[in-house]
Amino acid sequence: MILGGNIGILAAAFSFVIGMMMLGTPDKAERGNRLLVFGMILALVSTIGIQSFTQVEIPWSNIGVLLTIIAIGTLIGLKVSYRFELTKMPELVSLFNGFGGAAAGLIGIVGISSDEMHGDLVSTLILSSSIFLGFMTFSGSYIALLKLGGKYKMRIPNNRSLTFFTLAASILIIGLLVTHIGAELFILTLVGLVILSLLHGVSFASSIGGGDMPILISVLNGFTGALTAIAGIYFGSTIMILAGVFVTATGIILTFQMCTAMNTTLKKVIFGATNLIADSAASEGYSSIHETTSTKVATDIILMKKVVIVPGFGLAVAKAQKACRELKNTLEQANIEMKFVIHPVAGRMPGHMNVLLAEAGIDYADILDLDKGNQYLEEADLCLIIGANDVVNTSAEDDQDSIIHGMPIVQTYKAKKVVVIKRGLGAGYAGIKNPLFEKENTQLLLTDAKQALESIVDELKQ
Ligand code: TAP
Repeated sequence: MILGGNIGILAAAFSFVIGMMMLGTPDKAERGNRLLVFGMILALVSTIGIQSFTQVEIPWSNIGVLLTIIAIGTLIGLKVSYRFELTKMPELVSLFNGFGGAAAGLIGIVGISSDEMHGDLVSTLILSSSIFLGFMTFSGSYIALLKLGGKYKMRIPNNRSLTFFTLAASILIIGLLVTHIGAELFILTLVGLVILSLLHGVSFASSIGGGDMPILISVLNGFTGALTAIAGIYFGSTIMILAGVFVTATGIILTFQMCTAMNTTLKKVIFGATNLIADSAASEGYSSIHETTSTKVATDIILMKKVVIVPGFGLAVAKAQKACRELKNTLEQANIEMKFVIHPVAGRMPGHMNVLLAEAGIDYADILDLDKGNQYLEEADLCLIIGANDVVNTSAEDDQDSIIHGMPIVQTYKAKKVVVIKRGLGAGYAGIKNPLFEKENTQLLLTDAKQALESIVDELKQ
């Protein structure tokens, strides 16, 4: 049975590696996700199997309790996931991340409270760090969730480096003390440690700008992985160490990819005061825009040879992905080549636009990344910007004083003609004006993205 359990753990580890590799290609991603779920179930079953045969003190009734808890957790997870819309995915990730942190914190409390622990310095340090980072991740993720939803706006201006290191050092010292004091003071110190960690999570997340929230969530995700690995070392669980290391590694890779795409550094996000959201006053009015109509866009587009679509957050809001595919099919019938160019931070979560386009059945070969897309745009006859704003904002290249200056953008202005579909002259996530909208070769179709695309397709069919 123990051998069977270990083989199960090995198979789970393989499922994690292969499942994560499959997530890298859109057509295999769904199967990859299923494989990861399978790996997780296998890991749980194998761990319970091994524990119940190696640790005689674990009665079967405990396994019943464990399975009931897993069932309740699964039901809550399913219900919450179905309730959240795709546009709210970063909030959902943040929520689950927070739960992961709380679980790691609770494991730390259980470990540090056990009798064998007293006096063991290394374990005390490991477990107190787990409590600190776990509860900090929990409250930090919750603040990130509220900030993403625009329900929490407080900024705490402070010297983050100093606060971070002082607080981290004092919490570790408290952690050390925990094992060297009497029973009554032990509980009090433990409660103090948890409260301090929670407060630190709140102040940490509050001091980071709303625009940097996705990066913060990714950092906290990495923390949760590290905590799982730490707990794995403490409990001697290979699968916890492996899973923790995977989560940490993917968290780190994603964090740095997002920093590059938003032209910032992790140091600036955590210790500096970068904030990609301007005051509302920063979004000034437009004096010279050229409006167009769907009939005119249809008349123009039919004469083109190469058309590019740049989707943004507005495409998700309008749920216009299927209308995009309709347009693509219609243009292909007229022998017009059409490609999609996706900016790494378009939308509100990594891969947001890729997921939507894949859901609509757009072939992955027709989707270009930023570098290839910018090259392709040089030959494009027409570029259709659908609900994107910041990722095509030319002030990132032309205006040194802009808060997004230096961020790589989709260079839509290279196309011979640009048509922007958006509802009005509203700003994007960064809250700033977009000089692209006033350029000579740019026209604005001011209406809901789905309605606009459907009208264009209707016109084309006629
Ligand atoms: P945004 O800059 O947010 O612009 C979206 C535009 O869509 C708005 O200007 C809005 O203008 C328009 N819009 C909204 N609803 C629409 C509808 N129904 N039909 C047509 N247009 C609609 O989007 P983006 O260009 O994708 O840039 C993403 C921004 O979010 C970046 O600043 C990025 O840093 C930030 N961010 C990204 C992530 C990730 S990881 N992807 C996470 C958090 C934040 P109107 O109101 O005038 O229609």
